[in-house]
Amino acid sequence: MLAELDAIKSDALSAIEAITDESGLEEARVGFLGKKGRLTAASAGMRDVPKEQKKDVGQKLNEVRTAITAALEEKGAALTAAKDAAAFASIDATLPSRPLPEGGLHPLTHVLNEAVSILRRMGFALAEGPEIETEWHCFDALNTPEDHPARNESDTFYFENGKLLRTHTSSVQIRTMEKEVPPVRIIAPGSAFRRDEIDATHLSAFHQLEGLYVDKNVTLADLKGTLEYFFRELFGSKTEVRFRPHFFPFTEPSFEVDLKLHATGKAAKWIEIAGCGIVDPAVFSEVSTKRGDAAYNPSEISGFAFGMGLDRLAMIMYGIPDLRLLIENDVRFLQQFAK
Ligand code: PHE
Repeated sequence: MLAELDAIKSDALSAIEAITDESGLEEARVGFLGKKGRLTAASAGMRDVPKEQKKDVGQKLNEVRTAITAALEEKGAALTAAKDAAAFASIDATLPSRPLPEGGLHPLTHVLNEAVSILRRMGFALAEGPEIETEWHCFDALNTPEDHPARNESDTFYFENGKLLRTHTSSVQIRTMEKEVPPVRIIAPGSAFRRDEIDATHLSAFHQLEGLYVDKNVTLADLKGTLEYFFRELFGSKTEVRFRPHFFPFTEPSFEVDLKLHATGKAAKWIEIAGCGIVDPAVFSEVSTKRGDAAYNPSEISGFAFGMGLDRLAMIMYGIPDLRLLIENDVRFLQQFAK
């Protein structure tokens, strides 16, 4: 019996040694250790082993089983390692990886980032206000009378509770003055909403950039200098800026700002881009009444405000012919601005 077990062991070890693939490995496992395997068959012979030899034979049996199992495991590991090595040999790890599709910023975001960074260099801080506004912040505090056309149901989205979607970002002027004392120098980019018929140059939801500067002795010269510098930084030093008299309820005097760009190569023409003016003292009076203090006493402070359409800026900057392209999210359009 002992001799037989030794023979099984050496047969098994040399058979395993010669194995070259996984099916060979399985064959050997079944052939020696399986239900009908040689070692299994031999161990059935334990019954006939005389009592005094059982211990030695049992030990031998275990030793042989352990040796065969270990050899099978070792061979299995070697086969796996060889397989992995072969697989990796066909991969060139020095090749550049496949490019993943990258996201990009929306053209409006590009323009906004650019505009904000110029104005921040000039000392303007970012301010915010809600898109759902009270009539007071959007109109009354901005000296806009009850019967002003902008307040009409047909121009403004009203909620049943009397609130509205702000028609301009000028409401942030009021929000800011309610909580901060002069000097105030803020910009407020954000969405605005009007019940406009949608076409190539009008959207019912659009974007504005508001500016407000309140301090002692703020003049029209400050306003002009600020906007001229801003537009030349944005569109190039040859950009012409024109201030055309206009009317806004909350500024006096008021202007519309036109730009003439010379960088685009096309025949230069004037484009209307912003509204602005010197803050009407009536606005400071409204704010003072609401605050209940003298921080915005109209006889001691003055200010300027401006508001411009960001969508319009993007159209000019990128030569976009139709505003609707900005909200359609067509990747073929947006891809052109990803950088
Ligand atoms: N709120 C005005 C508009 O939407 C623009 C404006 C802002 C004008 C600030 C003057 C001062 O048309």
